[in-house]
Amino acid sequence: MTRTNRNILVTGATQGIGYSIAKILAEKNNVFICGRNELKLRENAAKLGCKGFFAGDLTQNGTVDLLYREVIDTLGGIDVLINNAGQYVYSRIEATKDDDLKRLVNLNSVVPFKLIRAFVPGMKEKKFGRIINIGSISGVVGEGNASLYSMTKASLMGLTKALALELAEFNITVNTINPGWVDTNLIDNDNLKSEFSEQEILDMIPQRRFVHPDEIGKMCEYLVSDSAKGITGQGLNICAGLTLG
Ligand SMILES: NC(=O)c1ccc[n+]([C@@H]2O[C@H](COP(=O)([O-])OP(=O)(O)OC[C@H]3O[C@@H](n4cnc5c(N)ncnc54)[C@H](OP(=O)(O)O)[C@@H]3O)[C@@H](O)[C@H]2O)c1
Repeated sequence: MTRTNRNILVTGATQGIGYSIAKILAEKNNVFICGRNELKLRENAAKLGCKGFFAGDLTQNGTVDLLYREVIDTLGGIDVLINNAGQYVYSRIEATKDDDLKRLVNLNSVVPFKLIRAFVPGMKEKKFGRIINIGSISGVVGEGNASLYSMTKASLMGLTKALALELAEFNITVNTINPGWVDTNLIDNDNLKSEFSEQEILDMIPQRRFVHPDEIGKMCEYLVSDSAKGITGQGLNICAGLTLG
């Protein structure tokens, strides 16, 4: 198996989609992972053969800078940034708490912006970069009773289109993958669950199935490859048909 040896940072790789992305990309590349749970990160890094990991809450002041330093010290720089860490909140707008508002805007929108801002100078120097944000179809078509989440995910599309224009001449592509319902722990927490049962959700999905996290990992693998160099500024919906209505 030929290694492509790209230096890649994947945020939110303790479990779920981020874990799948790291697993698939670590087969041929130098992957650095981060999240909050140090024990899981240590286990995942050993199991997947990652080059390093960083444990910290990205919404806390200074954590993005600490992560940046760790990545630079370990890999020297990165070719690929995958902004995957994110949280979900299911609540009517009038019931949405200020704490949730602050945390989601920070983690889902501000942190990706700050990480891109930190790593773009290195990519510009190399004249190569791939930036992939993990959005959501909630940010594409909207999700009732999840306006905060939808707002933060929609912001990634604006960021993606603007940056794709700004960075095109440096051979840096910027894209957002918008998953539909993916089989992960994201919505298993009782406080985050919607009013729909699993069967009701499946009935809404044209393919009558949840997306598997590896489908997102495989799309990242493609976007990182040379074959995808012409794809930039795009939102790629992997949603088993959910956006079709
Ligand atoms: N699952 C879906 O149906 C779905 C659909 C559309 C989009 N998405 C998006 O896909 C991404 C991954 O979702 P998932 O389903 O894999 O979620 P998940 O299983 O809950 O995993 C979330 C990851 O983000 C990390 N994370 C959460 N808060 C963090 C913080 N404050 N600082 C640092 N890391 C933090 C978690 O680390 P710890 O475990 O260490 O806390 C974990 O690794 C998210 O952006 C989500 O919005 C998911």
